[in-house]
Amino acid sequence: MKSHDYWQKQHQNYSTYDWITKPTIFAEQIVNLLPKNGKLIDLGAGQGQDSRFFAQNNFQVTSTDFTQDALDISRNKSNNLEIDYKNVDLTKPLPFDDSSFDIVYSHLSLHYFDNITTQNIFNEIHRILKKNGILAILVNTINDPEVAESEKIEEGYFLSPVGIKKRFFPVKYLRQLIGDRYQIEILDENGETYKDSIKNLIRFVGKKI
Ligand SMILES: C[S@@+](CC[C@H](N)C(=O)[O-])C[C@H]1O[C@@H](n2cnc3c(N)ncnc32)[C@H](O)[C@@H]1O
Repeated sequence: MKSHDYWQKQHQNYSTYDWITKPTIFAEQIVNLLPKNGKLIDLGAGQGQDSRFFAQNNFQVTSTDFTQDALDISRNKSNNLEIDYKNVDLTKPLPFDDSSFDIVYSHLSLHYFDNITTQNIFNEIHRILKKNGILAILVNTINDPEVAESEKIEEGYFLSPVGIKKRFFPVKYLRQLIGDRYQIEILDENGETYKDSIKNLIRFVGKKI
């Protein structure tokens, strides 16, 4: 199935759950590590529960996704919050100037890409982040039980049973992407969500050197 069609359907499905309206566990865990009132971009924000949470906490938020319906759902829930919504496809160069954000945040959206695209995305993130800015991400782990049901495409990258391509990160691979470009504040496998039962997702928070 085409990734975009999958996500449009998946967001209709997500809309039926109550977790979609509340901030994620990861956002609440890391919010106090972020530069106060900073300019924050949420990549693959989906229905924007974290974008709205950060806006409520006085960050200047740009909320992005390539599924327009999801951005529209979030906009409709934004009431008087000031959020800049932008349709951004992560497989393309990010349409933002160098050093334009204090925080790049992404919750479960950076693991749908092959190795070359993933490397490009991490380079683009580094480019748009200011020096001393914070990168905060939650990604799938290679220890996810779904890996056993998936078909390998390339190292760490699989065709999942529902027909979309998904990357499952070993910590070592994430360390390679990060390189020596960040001072690590958190890097562990203690991430969890309300959506799934696994409790060993990879959490990364790092400061751009
Ligand atoms: C698992 S959802 C996470 C959404 C939200 N961050 C959350 O945690 O609820 C993955 C999101 O990535 C988005 N996505 C997938 N591929 C993308 C791409 N190429 N460019 C931008 N967003 C993409 C999907 O539309 C979807 O909203």
